[in-house]
Amino acid sequence: PLQTSQQVGLWSARYIVDTINTFSPTADNPFVLGLPTGGTPLNTYKQLIKLHQQGEVSFKHVVTFNMDEYCGIPADHPQAYRTFMYQNFFNHIDIQEKNINLLDGNATDVDVECQRYEEKIKAYGKIHLFMGGVGNDGHIAFNEPASSLASRTRIKTLTEDTRVANSRFFDNDINQVPKHALTIGVGTLLDAEEVMILVTGHNKAQALEAAVEGSVNHLWTVSALQLHPKAMIVCDAPSTAEL
Ligand code: GLP
Repeated sequence: PLQTSQQVGLWSARYIVDTINTFSPTADNPFVLGLPTGGTPLNTYKQLIKLHQQGEVSFKHVVTFNMDEYCGIPADHPQAYRTFMYQNFFNHIDIQEKNINLLDGNATDVDVECQRYEEKIKAYGKIHLFMGGVGNDGHIAFNEPASSLASRTRIKTLTEDTRVANSRFFDNDINQVPKHALTIGVGTLLDAEEVMILVTGHNKAQALEAAVEGSVNHLWTVSALQLHPKAMIVCDAPSTAEL
């Protein structure tokens, strides 16, 4: 654990940059990075942009896959995860458009869309580093409580808890929060070579306890990380209150 959420941002950004640079990606051998949205990774994105501006990292040969996307809101909606990613990260770095992968929450056939995403990941071999956050209820991506730990990319119905938590981004009005989302599965996440989960704030204390001290349990999907050979949690002091 680190002390503050700022330190979580600094540390995680530095870790990503060092991992990319050690890999030395090229056009033929790109680095494949999995990415989240949410309030938690904002500091990390700010620091990554700063390190890029300082010439410490290039994203030219980095391929990204985002974890999830809402269904039923336009792709350019201010709260669409696509919008979030361009505003908070992609617009500020030298990533190539063709290397950005996002789920289309408005696809006419969501099963085909989810299958396309899984196949695209497979075409690259694997995701080298998947960064994620965690919901108050221990969900990773949108793998809500009781998701199968073997799950792949698919549509999920969001729980009331998640919609209430995310309503802060929708004028505090739960009625505006989408009811469904496309999300990578727990199995998809576990296939990554390395997973780094960011946890900040007191409201994540129970999720962190379940992740680290609980049993592997589909009611707290973050606990599936215990099965991963190279998973780490980067957290601040308030989130460790229940450990
Ligand atoms: C959403 C996202 C998750 C994210 C979680 C926590 O539900 N689908 O990927 O980890 O929110 O978000 P925050 O970082 O804002 O607390």
